[in-house]
Amino acid sequence: MNILIVDDEELQRTMLQGFLEKQGYRVFAAADGPEALQLFMAHPMDLVLLDHRMPMMSGDELLAKIKKINPMVRAMMITAFGAVDTAVRVMQLGADDFLEKPVDLELLLDKIRQLEEKIMVDQDVNHVEEAMNMDELPVRIAGDSAAMKELLSMVRRAAPTPWTVLIRGETGTGKELIARLIHRLSPRKEGPFIELNCAAIPENLFESELFGHEKGAFTGATARRRGVFEQAAGGTLFLDEAGELPLAMQAKLLRALQEKTITRIGGEQPLAVDVRIIAATNRDLKKMVDEGDFREDLYFRLNVIELELPPLRRRKEDLPALVDFFLERYNSRAVFDNEAMTQLAKYDYPGNIRELEHIIQRTITLARSATITMRDLPAEVRNFRGRQQTGNLNERLAELERQLLLDALEAADWVQTRAAAALGISERVLRYRMSRLGITRKK
Ligand SMILES: Nc1ncnc2c1ncn2[C@@H]1O[C@H](COP(=O)(O)OP(=O)(O)OP(=O)(O)O)[C@@H](O)[C@H]1O
Ligand SMILES: [Mg+2]
Repeated sequence: MNILIVDDEELQRTMLQGFLEKQGYRVFAAADGPEALQLFMAHPMDLVLLDHRMPMMSGDELLAKIKKINPMVRAMMITAFGAVDTAVRVMQLGADDFLEKPVDLELLLDKIRQLEEKIMVDQDVNHVEEAMNMDELPVRIAGDSAAMKELLSMVRRAAPTPWTVLIRGETGTGKELIARLIHRLSPRKEGPFIELNCAAIPENLFESELFGHEKGAFTGATARRRGVFEQAAGGTLFLDEAGELPLAMQAKLLRALQEKTITRIGGEQPLAVDVRIIAATNRDLKKMVDEGDFREDLYFRLNVIELELPPLRRRKEDLPALVDFFLERYNSRAVFDNEAMTQLAKYDYPGNIRELEHIIQRTITLARSATITMRDLPAEVRNFRGRQQTGNLNERLAELERQLLLDALEAADWVQTRAAAALGISERVLRYRMSRLGITRKK
């Protein structure tokens, strides 16, 4: 196993290098980010140990760069003692683990051995492993595109923590599904999962909905009522469509999150509440912050861990698995013939997975036989000829690149060496681009 150590302190560097070499590892050492990148490009590394605070290029920046070059590389960040926010950020950037200073060598060795085992398992039984893990999930999730795998690995790491998660994604991409999955994978799984759809509550009822009210607190308050915070105690509160929170409520919500207490309307005593928050939105909260429609402090409070659900049109390799999944959900033995399947794959699904579900449901209900052909498909799918290109230059270039790579791979029967040669790029670059664009082989 090749290990790269990056640390600007010479003493620490040589100490770690000497120690790890004695354990039989092949160790490279760099004093700063640029030197580390050079070594990284020149030698295949399995693990990078990086200091968080370095001149020239910070550990964060370096980590992001090496993960971009090789998403499979393992990384361990060495952070200042007790810096929880750093640990969170480092995890978001894709570090597999972190160690606090001063480095405990026994612990380091332990962690490296664990990683080593994981790498070996991954390499050996990659496929079996993936399939098994998907089946073990407490919520069924179809699709195993690179994008989905990455998302699920982030979910796994986020679930056991107490941190707030913000799930972003277009309508119908599975935000609620993922929120439930996080809850079920968390230590709070035996507690309640309470959902509040912020778009569905009239502004004047919001506060009572969140925090509850005492009897007689206002006209119509004929009995005491508990709000969602109290209902979710010991569990998870899912704030759906969080972008629709009225500004006045944002301030109150922030206070509740900071102080971990709430007060019922008309109540005297603040009550302690223990809830984990997961928020979801299909809006660009960052932009709303810039435009003054969303409080920045609340945004940072919600966005401790951010998960982005890719739209279905960016992960069409999941389509066959999703179709099977919904056929099973509706107890159907129908089979889509080649032409129908191809047309399904062409369609762009503005309503994402929910729309696909409705399409399958409608198609199998109205189909004339168990074999579904083109003419059984709903008109909007059957007649779909591609939409006018939208998106900014980068998105359109990415789409184009994706198509070119897919065509080349298809033509080369997915033999990557041949596809790379046809495209005039190295296999390494091809693999990197495939992973960046979430391209995997369809089954
Ligand atoms: N990967 C998946 N595998 C199987 N089913 C999925 C998957 N993703 C989403 N679904 C299903 O698609 C439907 C829509 O998902 P969900 O309600 O979670 O989307 P959403 O992002 O919350 O949508 P909205 O923004 O409209 O609220 C649900 O029936 C859900 O079970
Ligand atoms: Mg939803």
